[in-house]
Amino acid sequence: MVSPSMKRDASHGKDAKRKAGVEAASLVQSGMVVGLGTGSTTAFAIEELGRRIKDEGLEINGIPTSFSAEILAQKNGIPLQRLADVAGIDLAIDGADEVDAGRNLIKGGGAAHTMEKVIDCCATRFVVVADDSKVVPTLGQGFAVPVEVLPFAWTVVRRQLEQLGANPELRFGAGKDGPVITDLGHFVLDAKFEGIDDPPLLDRELSGIPGVVEHGLFVGVVEQVIVGQSDGSLSKF
Ligand code: A5P
Repeated sequence: MVSPSMKRDASHGKDAKRKAGVEAASLVQSGMVVGLGTGSTTAFAIEELGRRIKDEGLEINGIPTSFSAEILAQKNGIPLQRLADVAGIDLAIDGADEVDAGRNLIKGGGAAHTMEKVIDCCATRFVVVADDSKVVPTLGQGFAVPVEVLPFAWTVVRRQLEQLGANPELRFGAGKDGPVITDLGHFVLDAKFEGIDDPPLLDRELSGIPGVVEHGLFVGVVEQVIVGQSDGSLSKF
């Protein structure tokens, strides 16, 4: 089991992630506006979209969900637009830290879940890509729910999360002293629960805490999950 506040190593299940990412990229057609998710699995979809632009003349515009996705998309020759410049997003492709059979997710291992949620949720179709280690019977048993918070309010939010039964920890990163600062300038509290029995209820409770910018529980917004299996096959649900 991984640490509740840490993503798995990016190289974990690399071939399975590639397979899922490439499959998701095959759903993209010329003329689409595509939400570009963050993380090591979506990276394979972004690279494949770059290849299709170069080799097949695919014509798309991407909306990145983070600086990380933006930099990778630029490196792969994907034209980008700002969210404010488009009337809508046709398809969003994004990864997950955990996914359950109801296609509910925990995201935000890379602290990008606020922009991800805005972009993924406004897409006409939202497709998740994952390797099979991400599929769990119950969310939250292995991974904490990342909660992005206004920096001045983090101690107040921490107390509220404790009252909801979580064990919250302020996220610290590498290469910088002090807390992780998100792309949008906020802190992240990783709220570890002993399993989440009712994701829709917790979704509403977390969203109702003053000082919470956004949390990493995604409920009822995914159209399809594409899972790369360790035996090289793909499954979808
Ligand atoms: C970014 O904050 C996350 O939501 C990622 O989408 C999620 O952690 C999945 O990343 P990997 O594909 O690298 O596991």
